[in-house]
Amino acid sequence: MFLISIEALRRNVAILRETADAAGCKVVLAQKGFSCWKAYPYISGELDGCCASGLWEAMLARDHFRKHIVTYSPAYDEAEIDELLDFTHHLDFNSLSQWFRFRERIFQHPRFLSGELLCGLRINPEHSTGQTPIYDPCVPGSRLGITADQLAGADLTGLSGLHFHTLCEQDSPDLESTLKAVDEKFGHLLRSEQFTYLNMGGGHWITKPFYDRGLLIRLVREARERYDVEVWLEPGEAVAIHTGVLRAKVMDVFESAGHKLAILNVSATAHMPDVIEMPYRPDVFLVESGADISPPQPAVTLEGESYCLAGDPTNLQYPISNIQSLHTYRLGGPTCLAGDVVGDYSFPRELVVGDILVFDDMAHYTMVKTTTFNGVKHPPIALLHPDGRVETVREFCYGDFCNRLS
Ligand SMILES: Cc1ncc(COP(=O)(O)O)c(C=O)c1O
Repeated sequence: MFLISIEALRRNVAILRETADAAGCKVVLAQKGFSCWKAYPYISGELDGCCASGLWEAMLARDHFRKHIVTYSPAYDEAEIDELLDFTHHLDFNSLSQWFRFRERIFQHPRFLSGELLCGLRINPEHSTGQTPIYDPCVPGSRLGITADQLAGADLTGLSGLHFHTLCEQDSPDLESTLKAVDEKFGHLLRSEQFTYLNMGGGHWITKPFYDRGLLIRLVREARERYDVEVWLEPGEAVAIHTGVLRAKVMDVFESAGHKLAILNVSATAHMPDVIEMPYRPDVFLVESGADISPPQPAVTLEGESYCLAGDPTNLQYPISNIQSLHTYRLGGPTCLAGDVVGDYSFPRELVVGDILVFDDMAHYTMVKTTTFNGVKHPPIALLHPDGRVETVREFCYGDFCNRLS
């Protein structure tokens, strides 16, 4: 079961609202990171709207968030553009060729003529600050965003915004150096009267306890003053971080070549693919029998000594002490993929069939990426309300598997 804590979501959006208000900017949910729309009514009051990666996310925002929609996609087709023009508020383009292809029909659209729809370009400041190439849109030859040399001399009539997204799980000093690169390469555009908004993308880890929010606030304010633009932030992860867990059941336990193995009813590749793709290692908690949804007992991982509980408002660390002997298991899923493994984890006792394990931080970039590979049953989705009530908002059946495939 994917279990999302409403209280934890509210904690995050309250931090985002406070930060955006202090900075004088807009903040929207990047739905690519979290789009469990049944939770939208609990967060929409604090956010200015949604960021959409294309038509379907924009429709989800229109139907369930009902606020401002900022849309950016690496490419649109004609049918998508025609629909988007009717309801998105920002429409950002990834290349000049896309903009030139569609701009004539945009110029004639009543929402563009009335100023209800604004168009922008995604720029590439060619300034890498992250560690992982797969998440770096500034690598040479990147397909994401327009470089300054591509823009030189181009006819930019009709555009009013610039958009960059270059960060991933980063702190505000990286934004500061990025803004310097943006200023060097695109500052002349932002200073002109034509450009009225600057979208600084996502990747800002604003709700992490160590994040330097003061610096973000200063940077946004300076940008607003320097360029006289409206600034937009579109975090995904910062909205949903530490808000959700994936509860799994141990289906089998056995040994192979000296390794203890536990097969779970959830899969790394089908239900938490970033564990393999990113890759990252989620914290795991063992729920002792009798305990219900919360709180799970902290388990020990091999790489550290302390962990935080999902949803804990202070991101409190729980030191693991007085554990005499550990029982280490390779946790894997029920699919055919040999590498369908979450990792090796140690527990204070032997695991047995029926044990419940809780994987931390499974709300963002997890639920949005699940599949039914191997026909493995998709975990139900539930909301944990502040009064402890668990509301199952979606259960999956054989028909869902069938219908997706033909
Ligand atoms: C254009 C754009 N905006 C916003 C985001 C959200 O980023 P994050 O969830 O890291 O805040 C992404 C993530 O890839 C993105 O590509």
